[in-house]
Amino acid sequence: MNQSSSLRPVRPRRSVLYLPASNSRALDKLPGLSCDSVVFDLEDSIVPGAKEEARESLRCFFSDGRAAALPAGMETVIRINALSSPWGSEDLLAARGCKPDAILIPKVDAPEDIVTVEDALEQTDAPRSLRLWAMIETPRGVMNAGQIARMARTDGARLDCFITGTNDLLKETGVAALPGRPWLSPWLMQIVLAARAYGLDVLDGVYNDFKDEAGLLDECRDGQAMGFDGKTLIHPAQIAPANKAFGIAPDRLAQAKAIAAAFALPENKDRGVISLDGRMVERLHLEMADRLIEKAARIAARYGGDKET
Ligand code: COA
Ligand code: MG
Repeated sequence: MNQSSSLRPVRPRRSVLYLPASNSRALDKLPGLSCDSVVFDLEDSIVPGAKEEARESLRCFFSDGRAAALPAGMETVIRINALSSPWGSEDLLAARGCKPDAILIPKVDAPEDIVTVEDALEQTDAPRSLRLWAMIETPRGVMNAGQIARMARTDGARLDCFITGTNDLLKETGVAALPGRPWLSPWLMQIVLAARAYGLDVLDGVYNDFKDEAGLLDECRDGQAMGFDGKTLIHPAQIAPANKAFGIAPDRLAQAKAIAAAFALPENKDRGVISLDGRMVERLHLEMADRLIEKAARIAARYGGDKET
């Protein structure tokens, strides 16, 4: 099987902002924000007594035209409570009715957690375009990450993306939250590897100190180097640093275009490996270059020109 056939369509997910579903001021602010995706949260940021109100607020947002008026290309995701919780089933029905791009399942421990939600969605004849994202944030979730990611390969699978829930992982394991995340990183890398084994996108956890831009930028750069596609965020001030760190620098884009142009030359049509500016370039580099060029084009299509690529 060609490697590229195992890869999902390119979609920029540099900046993925959590927004508590009951926060009306935050909802008002959303259309002006430059995040690639938004996760409307019904779970951790909503206290038990406010779950119903948050669900209702979301229903209104999606039915009164405000969701439809969001910038084209801003991906919408709804995080529900676990189906095993008192709110999960109602949340899933409400989320399904809102028609977001994806539903995010929290605290996924095992593949069965994905199957349960997929089955429930089948029963409501949900369209195939409704995707599922999974939070890997428990010790069992990390240990089973490969088996969970494998769900993306089953017939009719909806699973598209993993999010690492670093706050929950710290809480559950007791490891120290230190700059550079020395103790957390092995598990984060395990999650990245599992996602890549089955072609999923994978997003880094949040940086709680939203006034510390330099610290955020450092952590974004680490996350980018670890292979994450983007960062989950809690505050609008974090969007620009994440877009920058996970964006496509002009020199990387120029290099990708040079690789694509070199392989497009008639004399290189049937060659698996070529030399470019003194470096060996293989067809796997062409695949990487093509995806990068497509991602840059999608970012430019949404934000105009080369802004924040
Ligand atoms: N999405 C959209 N807008 C947001 C936002 C978010 N996540 N967080 C803050 N804002 C808005 C505020 O509503 C405010 O808008 P206004 O000027 O129109 O009133 C503006 O940004 C500035 O906010 P600020 O006063 O700096 O922050 P705050 O004290 O209101 O809120 C938090 C701080 C952390 C409570 C808030 O950012 C938040 O709830 N973040 C998300 C938390 C979450 O979802 N956690 C679960 C996943 S880890
Ligand atoms: Mg969590």
